[in-house]
Amino acid sequence: MLIQLYRHIQRNIKEDGLIVSSSRFLVSAMLKRVDFSRNLRILEIGSGRGAITDQLIQRMSNGSSLDICEIKSEYNDSIHRLMASHPDKQVALYNSCVTQLLTRPGHYDVIISSLPLKNFEDAASANAFLYQILNAVQYGLREGGLYLQYQYFKSNQSDIEQVFGKSMDDVSFVPLNILPAFVYQMSKPAAMATPAVLDRAPLNESS
Ligand SMILES: C[S@@+](CC[C@H](N)C(=O)[O-])C[C@H]1O[C@@H](n2cnc3c(N)ncnc32)[C@H](O)[C@@H]1O
Repeated sequence: MLIQLYRHIQRNIKEDGLIVSSSRFLVSAMLKRVDFSRNLRILEIGSGRGAITDQLIQRMSNGSSLDICEIKSEYNDSIHRLMASHPDKQVALYNSCVTQLLTRPGHYDVIISSLPLKNFEDAASANAFLYQILNAVQYGLREGGLYLQYQYFKSNQSDIEQVFGKSMDDVSFVPLNILPAFVYQMSKPAAMATPAVLDRAPLNESS
């Protein structure tokens, strides 16, 4: 029993980068930065069971759209339930690596990511996949658009700043979460160069 629990926790940390879903304090710290009074094209990356998704769907205006990108289909039932409880909202779920979704330049007003960036570090490839993800996020965000990212450790801030070519707009700390987390807020400056490396494989929407 204890061994099973330990294996489950270990798998969650390794694959998902988390122990339990984000707390309402972390969700609130992320979403208070979004102006939901406007119609927005929103992308959520790494929904898991939907701790952030739930609030996103509730808060977004009817004229907004939300794309959810979650690489694992095992969370689909939870996400589909949230979608079904708000049929008036425009929400689509994609089961793919987010690099496959971010192929339209400047498409999103807001990108909210729970990706465990630290897990993507790989010295052997000079962090190739980490930079592929960050470049794709930068590419898919409109100029002036908002990128929100949480991390359990104050890691990868300089990687994000390098890709966006500027300092973070804000970094805040949320202690009431397992684990305590940092929230990064980055806006995309005008006239950014297009990243050279983007994965453009085709994408299927989850049914
Ligand atoms: C830290 S969990 C976040 C879950 C939830 N948003 C929360 O805050 O409780 C990160 C999620 O990102 C997903 N993920 C990891 N790599 C991904 C990728 N390349 N593209 C899309 N989703 C990915 C994982 O499957 C996992 O569900």
